Amino acid sequence: MKLFLDTANIDEIREINAWGVLGGVTTNPSLVAKEASDPGRVWKEILAEVDGPISLETTELEAGPMYDQGVRLAQMAPNAVVKVPMTPDGLAAGTRLVADGVRINVTLVFSPAQAILAAEIGADIVSPFLGRLDDVASDGMDVLRRICDLYEVQGYQTSVLAASLRHPMHVVEAALAGADIATMPYGVFKQLVKHPLTDIGLDKFLQDWKALQEELEKGA
Ligand code: G3P
Repeated sequence: MKLFLDTANIDEIREINAWGVLGGVTTNPSLVAKEASDPGRVWKEILAEVDGPISLETTELEAGPMYDQGVRLAQMAPNAVVKVPMTPDGLAAGTRLVADGVRINVTLVFSPAQAILAAEIGADIVSPFLGRLDDVASDGMDVLRRICDLYEVQGYQTSVLAASLRHPMHVVEAALAGADIATMPYGVFKQLVKHPLTDIGLDKFLQDWKALQEELEKGA
């Protein structure tokens, strides 16, 4: 399973990218708005920083303007992936973009039925939102499992990207469900690496090492 960052913040992206595990980045209008900067500049910086796929989201609601915007976004860089919403217009614009050879990510997916539509238009990526389903007392992980299962049964090539992840166990469970990609906020990425026993173990190793150095110095 590839690990993506769900952010538009270049400092967060640079920090995690240095770990060598960053497969790509997903952005959405809310994340870009948080940067309070020109969206074109924000996207360009991210596209140049990370080699993997970078999802840039359309904001037009009607199929025609959404398609035009998608073409412009796709032209920004070879690693740009155009996000379209799971709406009738999003499907229509997405179909045209796929026909042009543009990679699309169908976003705001909350059901297996919607995931079938995304696969049928040839989307590169489908993005079910787990955390937002949990927020309304639905089982986001169950929806992800059903999507992974039905894609397997049908032999769909669309990658399943588990989105709206809120904690490390979401990431682990998404991997077990068979998701191709998990996108997560910076905070969840940082939580993935942490374990108290790692910190305690490292402290003890370093204490023992220091004690040895002091003994050797005394003996010299
Ligand atoms: O970028 C799409 C998705 O990951 C959003 O997550 O936390 O706003 O529900 P969240």
